Amino acid sequence: MLFRPRKPWQGRQADVTPKSLYLDRRRIMTAGGALALTGLVGCNGSETQADSPTSAAARPASPHAPADGGLNYTSTDYSVSDALTPIDAVSGYNNFYEFGVAKEDPARYAHRMTVDPWSIEVEGHAARTGRFALEDVVDFNALEERIYRLRCVEAWSMVIPWIGVPLASVLQQFEPTADARYVAFETYLNRQEMRGTRFPVLDWPYVEGLRMDEAMNELAFLAVGLYGDLLPNQNGAPVRLVVPWKYGYKSIKSIVKIRFVPEQPPTSWNIAAPNEYGFYSNVNPNRAHPRWSQRTERVIGGDLFARRDTEMFNGYGDQVAHLYTGMDLIENH
Ligand code: MTE
Repeated sequence: MLFRPRKPWQGRQADVTPKSLYLDRRRIMTAGGALALTGLVGCNGSETQADSPTSAAARPASPHAPADGGLNYTSTDYSVSDALTPIDAVSGYNNFYEFGVAKEDPARYAHRMTVDPWSIEVEGHAARTGRFALEDVVDFNALEERIYRLRCVEAWSMVIPWIGVPLASVLQQFEPTADARYVAFETYLNRQEMRGTRFPVLDWPYVEGLRMDEAMNELAFLAVGLYGDLLPNQNGAPVRLVVPWKYGYKSIKSIVKIRFVPEQPPTSWNIAAPNEYGFYSNVNPNRAHPRWSQRTERVIGGDLFARRDTEMFNGYGDQVAHLYTGMDLIENH
């Protein structure tokens, strides 16, 4: 059942954080810590290697945020009954392998990524293609908030208040043709700014994709913010996908390319380990991953031992199960 819990940031719209404080907070959120931990190895690698301390450079004011800080958005009924994950965990415990494989690495190093100006290249089977400024892709006057569960294949989960627009509203602007059966996404790649790309953890750039009807589903979302403000870099600034019924790795960050294609596109984790990560990657407690049982999940940000049962499609079956009628979801994992 959907209901609207009290929002801890309510009141911020009326009593908006001054811009200087807001930027300062963003600086803290993206700042480097004392010692960096970078690791290598697979999806959950943890070998460590020391690095020198980093200091965060002040971020310029973004043209995407109103001058008084925060984002203007409308609330929606997309919510869940569980408590929100605290913002420190949402933006301090991340997977963004371009910055390293330790969970703290993105918060330490992602401030180095240039997110402004930002453009997105649109290619393939659509009437409108070319390079578009972010402001021309996402309507910042039509932002809405959606509280979604995020379920990582590593068997942890969060509940995050995203700000953004439905993915369908964005894709429709480009008028995809009937040959566009899939849509592929690509993450920004800059090896100077993204220290994790020195290591062959994945075939960079990070790529993902959805079947067109999945992309057009009401739940598929393009986020530009969370907790009322612009996305911190470590969460995939300035624009990322959020596909709540699929494992978190489908929710590709910092998107620079959208391509409409007739065939199923390659996806990063599937290329790296096809037996572990399929194209569909729907949350499925009945298909064990070789390294993590998918039956339950650790709830991040609360009681250290809090766990919950994992639900099929991450609890979004009513909205998405029909997309997979007649498919074997163990085989098509
Ligand atoms: N996108 C890119 N470009 N690089 C990544 O390493 N990690 C994915 C996904 N998107 C990843 C990415 C994984 S494994 C997860 S669980 C989610 O981002 C995590 O999102 P969060 O850090 O905002 O919680």
